[in-house]
Amino acid sequence: MNMKLMTPGPTPLPPQVVDAMGRQVLHHRTKEYGEAFDKLCKGLKYVFAADYPVITFTASGTGGMEAAVVNCFSPGDRVLLISTGVFGDRFADICLSMGLDVDKMDVAWGKAVQPEEVKSRLRNGVKGVILTHNETSTGVKNDIAAVGEALKGMDILYVVDAVSSLGGMEVRPEEWNIDVVVTSSQKALMCPPGLTFLCVSPRAVEAAKRNKGSFRHYWDFRKALDFMDRELPETPFTPAVNLVMASSQAIGLIMKEGIERVWERHSRMAEMTREGVKAMGLHLFAEEGSASETLTAIQVPEGIKAGDIRKHMEQRHGIIIAGGNKSLKGKIIRIAHMGYIFEEDVLDALNALEDALISYGYGLEKGRAWETARQVWDRRREKI
Ligand SMILES: Cc1ncc(COP(=O)(O)O)c(C=O)c1O
Repeated sequence: MNMKLMTPGPTPLPPQVVDAMGRQVLHHRTKEYGEAFDKLCKGLKYVFAADYPVITFTASGTGGMEAAVVNCFSPGDRVLLISTGVFGDRFADICLSMGLDVDKMDVAWGKAVQPEEVKSRLRNGVKGVILTHNETSTGVKNDIAAVGEALKGMDILYVVDAVSSLGGMEVRPEEWNIDVVVTSSQKALMCPPGLTFLCVSPRAVEAAKRNKGSFRHYWDFRKALDFMDRELPETPFTPAVNLVMASSQAIGLIMKEGIERVWERHSRMAEMTREGVKAMGLHLFAEEGSASETLTAIQVPEGIKAGDIRKHMEQRHGIIIAGGNKSLKGKIIRIAHMGYIFEEDVLDALNALEDALISYGYGLEKGRAWETARQVWDRRREKI
């Protein structure tokens, strides 16, 4: 049985990307590699929908989050850190380990932050605002555009974790006043795990240049940008060559489909999932209106174990989904519809979930979820 990863990272790879991983390694100071990296850098600018440089580091998304912090801020700098779940908490931990003065604003899990509350929370001397776009642990999306609007005209760096949204949900750093957008390769971008990408505004680059207080070497934006600014871009240190080759293929596929169409596909799959799940009588974890477009968090009905549902879906249907993190363990399941995942996969996942629930005695009308999702697809197909 072929297994399908419908987890919020890693996600399945397109065949062209798998092939690129299996190629003989190139030396990273050659023209052939430089051309591939150049293609990736240009493609990333397209996917980030900004004319800002995009820095690539060999690391997972957490490395990118640390890179944003050590370049933009120095120990003692005050930042407003908005946490809407596990990954907001992780960003807070990173800021605390780097010695920042963190004002942590905790939003109830399952809810999005209200942009006007961000503005009223800003205290004197705040140098940065840090927010997660798509909180993977709860399936909630935050309105990063509205927060950016609220910060316009202020001398505040705005850093966004778009690890589980970029490539699947609209992000526009320039229009939305965002200084650093961090993402990683293994989610909606259809690349293998191992790379982090940071789209940096001129203000963020200036801050990195002025920053004398923070210790950094591997993560230094100045060094990375210096090496990118060559006839063919390079990296200061040995890059993960095959990951770059594979990512260049994956980004090429997104460019071929067109980023706006990719966003629309994700939004369509999300609506199919939500409506299908509701048709089973289940409840979403995210509050109405703030549900993510790349994954759906579903409350597990009383009397059924999250682990049993996941096991059934995996063993009988070959579909791997995620459970809840931290305090949500056992309470929710998460179906990701990001990256190299299509409408048929969503229908399969709904069918598998229905089957799992029925086998554990949950009463539902078989086929209704599938039919409901199918109708969403039909209705939205016209708009393509
Ligand atoms: C929103 C968000 N931020 C950060 C991370 C951390 O990324 P990584 O696991 O690549 O370090 C994740 C990973 O799931 C995530 O979903």
